[in-house]
Amino acid sequence: MELINQLNWRYATKKFNQEKKVSSEDLEKIKESIRLTATSYGLQPFKVIQIESKEVRKKLQPLAWGQSQITEASHLFVFANQLQVSDEDVETMMRLKGEINNIDYSNLEGYTTFIQEKMKEKQGEDMIHWTAKQSYLALSSALIACAELKIDATPMEGFETDKVSVLLGLEKEGLGASALLAIGYRHEEDQSQHGKKVRKAPSNLFSVV
Ligand SMILES: Cc1cc2nc3c(=O)[nH]c(=O)nc-3n(C[C@H](O)[C@H](O)[C@H](O)COP(=O)(O)O)c2cc1C
Repeated sequence: MELINQLNWRYATKKFNQEKKVSSEDLEKIKESIRLTATSYGLQPFKVIQIESKEVRKKLQPLAWGQSQITEASHLFVFANQLQVSDEDVETMMRLKGEINNIDYSNLEGYTTFIQEKMKEKQGEDMIHWTAKQSYLALSSALIACAELKIDATPMEGFETDKVSVLLGLEKEGLGASALLAIGYRHEEDQSQHGKKVRKAPSNLFSVV
């Protein structure tokens, strides 16, 4: 299976080659992998912000433990999870579902109400954790897409969430930063590329009941 080779090839890149940029075609493929990711109820309760401004990337770096990938990678994305999922969010998604699949919305109202009720059961931090988990699924899709495209990537949660959210004005949009993703091409001097994969043995990871 080629995917296994690709997953062995990828690693969390520490030092990027600043001369090599990801093409716009590849960028669109990575974004499409994010868009197509599975999420609970299909709600996609997050946004992904591409940080094009060099100035903003410079400001982000000290908020991300000074990590070099923030300024040196070809592209940087911020995954931002919703702080709340409103009735309207659910209805909008279900109306879209109806439209795309040619289903009258009246047939989806029961399920819409069910999801809205489920969302109300998640309060405060619970909701924030839940939406952050959903955004991590998208992060994982992007990592896999990058591996297939032979694009290096670093998923990052080594940053100060609140400060990054303030810098990017996320709270005004009802969002908080959950993860960063730096992508580009590895620098030949990045020693991490020579490390072997460190993973639990299958017997410590899987069990059968
Ligand atoms: C959600 C998440 C957050 C991470 N945060 C950072 C980070 O802030 N900086 C970094 O250099 N690596 C970060 N990593 C990379 C992990 O340390 C790395 O994926 C793990 O050690 C496994 O190694 P590999 O990805 O090179 O196979 C993160 C990985 C994940 C999945």
